[in-house]
Amino acid sequence: MSGLELENISMRFDLPNGSYVQALQDVSLKLEPGQLLSVLGPSGCGKSTLLNIVAGFLAPTGGRISLNGQAVRGPDAERGVVFQKGALFEWMNVRDNVSFGPRMAGQGAAQYGPKVDHLIDTVGLADFREKAIYELSGGMQQRVALARCLANDPDVILMDEPLGALDALTREKMQAMVLNLWKETGKTVILITHSVEEALLLGERLIVMAPRPGRIYREYQLPFADQGVGRDLREIKKLPDFAARREEILSMIWNMEEEIMGSQGAAA
Ligand SMILES: Nc1ncnc2c1ncn2[C@@H]1O[C@H](COP(=O)(O)OP(=O)(O)OP(=O)(O)O)[C@@H](O)[C@H]1O
Ligand SMILES: [Mg+2]
Repeated sequence: MSGLELENISMRFDLPNGSYVQALQDVSLKLEPGQLLSVLGPSGCGKSTLLNIVAGFLAPTGGRISLNGQAVRGPDAERGVVFQKGALFEWMNVRDNVSFGPRMAGQGAAQYGPKVDHLIDTVGLADFREKAIYELSGGMQQRVALARCLANDPDVILMDEPLGALDALTREKMQAMVLNLWKETGKTVILITHSVEEALLLGERLIVMAPRPGRIYREYQLPFADQGVGRDLREIKKLPDFAARREEILSMIWNMEEEIMGSQGAAA
């Protein structure tokens, strides 16, 4: 059995004061190999918790999770993570950051060298191989983070707001790069974002989560990621279908928040 499967995943955090937070409740999801899933939802709805469970950093308090038929029991190189920022080795240069995984896996320079150099070229940093991380802009650092993740050749790439700290123009360029890398490498990707536009542009599938308890509220299948590969994403954004979907999802999120706030108001 191939793909990533989550069955009734729940996560409850017990707090020191005796109360608890139900961060996730009965989240079920099946991702085929090579699919890109975007995840949207208000702050606190459990997006990072979900990603951390798939990464193996957190063990769920309920449910089952497997990758290619094998139960997920902890972190593994088959599941790579790209964080919003700050997870690089600041004192190492670009090449040493990107080659970190293969070196830790015991590969020699002759083995990993060509692959690492190719990845650095692919993310557009050929002139920066020897630069230290602190010498790079935020956008360049996220390119390094992506290349470092890909160097481990994971089956699944997990991204938590990877472009969230970038300026608008850099973010647009990086969106195109993520899309093209996804098609080229055939990786399964889960992308958390706060941007409806980004979720629509990059996700073949999109889930919108709701909070308290964290759960999947709506799911969509989308055509734009396939249409956008190798194209200027601004052209995609101008399509009438794109604008219509954006409005539909924005008003759905608006209504969802009204409904949840309303029910909390009634309970208070
Ligand atoms: N280690 C923890 N201990 C206790 N509560 C936690 C812990 N981690 C997360 N939570 C709670 O679980 C809920 C979900 O948190 P999570 O970080 O997954 O949300 P998120 O959707 O990623 O939010 P954001 O969009 O702000 O990043 C929140 O109410 C949060 O306070
Ligand atoms: Mg989060």
